[in-house]
Amino acid sequence: MALVTTKKMFEKAFEGGYAIGAFNINNMEIIQGVVAAAKAQNSAVILQVSKSALKYAHPKYLKAMVDAAIEETGLDIALHLDHGSDFEVCKDCIEYGFTSVMFDGSHLEYEENVAQTKRIVEYAHERGIVVEAELGKLAGVEDEVNVDAAHATYTDPDQAVDFVKRTGVDSLAIAIGTSHGAYKFKGEAKLDFDRLATITEKLEAAGFHNYPIVLHGASSVDQRCVAMCNEYGGNIAGAKGIPAEMLRKASSMAVCKINMDTDLRLAMTAAVRKSFGDEPAAFDPRGYLGAGRALIQELVEDKIKNVIGSTDSMNQTP
Ligand code: G3H
Ligand code: 13P
Ligand code: ZN
Repeated sequence: MALVTTKKMFEKAFEGGYAIGAFNINNMEIIQGVVAAAKAQNSAVILQVSKSALKYAHPKYLKAMVDAAIEETGLDIALHLDHGSDFEVCKDCIEYGFTSVMFDGSHLEYEENVAQTKRIVEYAHERGIVVEAELGKLAGVEDEVNVDAAHATYTDPDQAVDFVKRTGVDSLAIAIGTSHGAYKFKGEAKLDFDRLATITEKLEAAGFHNYPIVLHGASSVDQRCVAMCNEYGGNIAGAKGIPAEMLRKASSMAVCKINMDTDLRLAMTAAVRKSFGDEPAAFDPRGYLGAGRALIQELVEDKIKNVIGSTDSMNQTP
């Protein structure tokens, strides 16, 4: 039993009209909550690590815990670098044993994004590792990059085809209206599904059959968790995410990977706050962190079963 790449996962997801959840991990409780949910739903899963998570927890610790999760569950799990900013961090993660890396050159000039992505793809492919890249700019805050809504740009379909052709990248993250963080929409939620369909049609016509698309910034910002945070001393006002039915629709289309981090953060924070509120005299971290882990499991199970639809993907043959 070992880590897998996302290649087969995406082939099956595209055929089956569902998506694989990619959840950000930072510590043991998050890993265990996500993996327990995937196990309960018999689902493949992607565990992804941002640059700041690498700094916080160290790749060796994260890799060792993910290896333990695979041994424990027998699930197909891919370990993925989220928003890799340059060649070096992608190379380091490949050396640490990650099976998938993202190079995020979305803030670069187009030709520079092509050149840097291509270099990483060549390096990764020689080692059997897959690469995700990004085209178009999402609004929101991620790692050191903060893009306001006015500077977000949706992915151009023709450019997407040219980019995939020239870089050989395995999956493409696109901008169609999602954004990072807890404040995604002021008014009504809206995603450009026509653009997603056009990108897929053009890729198909160019010979990229069932090409996997990735959706970042796809947390739903569970209002139950927001309310729980606020009830127990938090101050999270006006947070709004992507409605579940939009994620279901995207999953039934070409979107094979759906990224969620904010929802896990909110679940952990809500449960820890509640635990402190309910038991002010307690001071065993296993109590409040355990409560966080349990709520993450509940939330991720709901996503797998009722939103992205990857339940029983472990049984599906390619
Ligand atoms: O897309 C960004 C993820 O939510 C990671 O955030 O850099 O704070 O770990 P982070
Ligand atoms: P959210 O902030 O919507 O959870 O998005 C996470 C993400 O895209 C990680 O790459
Ligand atoms: Zn992201």
